[in-house]
Amino acid sequence: MPKKAEASESRPVMVKVSKETHDKLVSLAKWGDTMDQVIHRLTMQAKGLEDIVAGQSSICFIDGQEGRLLYRGYDIEDLAAKSTYEETAFLLWHGHLPTSAELHAFSADMGARRGVPKEVMSILRSLPKNVDAMDALRVSIAALGVYDDPMLTPVDKAVSISAKIGTVVAAIHRHKHDQPIVTPKEGLGYASNLLRMVTGREPSPEDEKLMDVLLILHADHELNASTFTARVIASTLSDVYSAVTGAVGALKGPLHGGANEKVIEMTIEIGNPENAESYVDAMLAKHQKITGFGHRVYKTMDPRARILKEMAAGFVRTDKEKKVFEILDRTEQMMKEWRNLYPNVDLYSGLALNHVGIPSYLFTPVFAVGRAPGWLAHILEQYGDNRIIRPRAEYIGPPRTAYVPIEKRTPLSVAKP
Ligand SMILES: CC(C)(COP(=O)(O)OP(=O)(O)OC[C@H]1O[C@@H](n2cnc3c(N)ncnc32)[C@H](O)[C@@H]1OP(=O)(O)O)[C@@H](O)C(=O)NCCC(=O)NCCS
Repeated sequence: MPKKAEASESRPVMVKVSKETHDKLVSLAKWGDTMDQVIHRLTMQAKGLEDIVAGQSSICFIDGQEGRLLYRGYDIEDLAAKSTYEETAFLLWHGHLPTSAELHAFSADMGARRGVPKEVMSILRSLPKNVDAMDALRVSIAALGVYDDPMLTPVDKAVSISAKIGTVVAAIHRHKHDQPIVTPKEGLGYASNLLRMVTGREPSPEDEKLMDVLLILHADHELNASTFTARVIASTLSDVYSAVTGAVGALKGPLHGGANEKVIEMTIEIGNPENAESYVDAMLAKHQKITGFGHRVYKTMDPRARILKEMAAGFVRTDKEKKVFEILDRTEQMMKEWRNLYPNVDLYSGLALNHVGIPSYLFTPVFAVGRAPGWLAHILEQYGDNRIIRPRAEYIGPPRTAYVPIEKRTPLSVAKP
């Protein structure tokens, strides 16, 4: 029997890299380099873990060159056109599209779990009216972990959290504006219920469809920052609520959620389509980024932006909406022509969310409602084949240093960070 160390020494090490990482390795390798030197150079370049493959997943595929996005093999274009929030959540968690009996049972289960425990509602009501909506959401999801049924299986918890997160977000909005909280209505689909609970009125079929599409488009996006956060937390075998609470915290950051709100602010600043060119010109001259453009993975138009733009062209009705659409369209043309930069999902999503009655400050919480099925699919996948996620850092601090007793310390004898 070979000893364990000998066995691992003789086994070839398989390292899988993405095409982007492969191309980068080739571009970084110099003739005569050792593998260690190439990997060192790659690490130096991979700030933000760019192009690093951090694990395997069968949930979501992104082709950044072709602008393609698949959930469990299904094209986002098809899902947006033909699916619903419930069906997409089922697909993400179970890996296949449901039969009509499965979808019926799943939707009924989710519908039955939309009510939020009264203790969580009373915590929410105790928050200040001017609380940041994402802070309120984070507190509420953490509280759900305390008050949800402790006997639920992880899959039941996934259904419960996804069902309740929409109710919580709507309640955050109603509480902020001193409006009576609208409870979920039986028999309504998820998207329709969400809009009803936020606005207080039943949406038109067109608005319901648009809301459904918005939720589907945001449902998953591989190892984005919040999903990665959720997987890291799940990998410690912590509970589902903690993982989702962490994901909400990550999504709150303006580099992740929130860009669509900024797009709306940008259109207000631009004011008129005729000003779009000078705005883009001035921003680029100042080396400032224009929100709604560029993406870490997509090197062409984000397919979600393509879908939303097509829908927006059909739904814009009021003069204000038409003006915003035209501003965005012109900005898009300039960015493509001048910088070869393409729209990401956030360029047109704010316009769509406003259209269905979601106020701008609620965009990121609604993004969380859409993303919850994706977070939960990844959490379940992580539990299913777990190893704690624990990477290494390259140490760049001071070398081993003798401890200086306090009476002998002078400002200069203490190493500065
Ligand atoms: C999405 C984003 C964070 C990706 O960041 P990243 O992968 O680190 O890409 P970088 O910031 O390194 O950008 C690469 C180059 O494109 C330029 N660029 C990228 N996005 C840009 C934008 N929105 N406006 C102007 N220039 C942009 C950068 O200035 C950089 O140019 P340089 O190489 O000449 O310095 C970035 O594109 C961005 O900040 N976009 C605006 C915010 C936004 O829309 N966020 C929502 C994302 S879904």
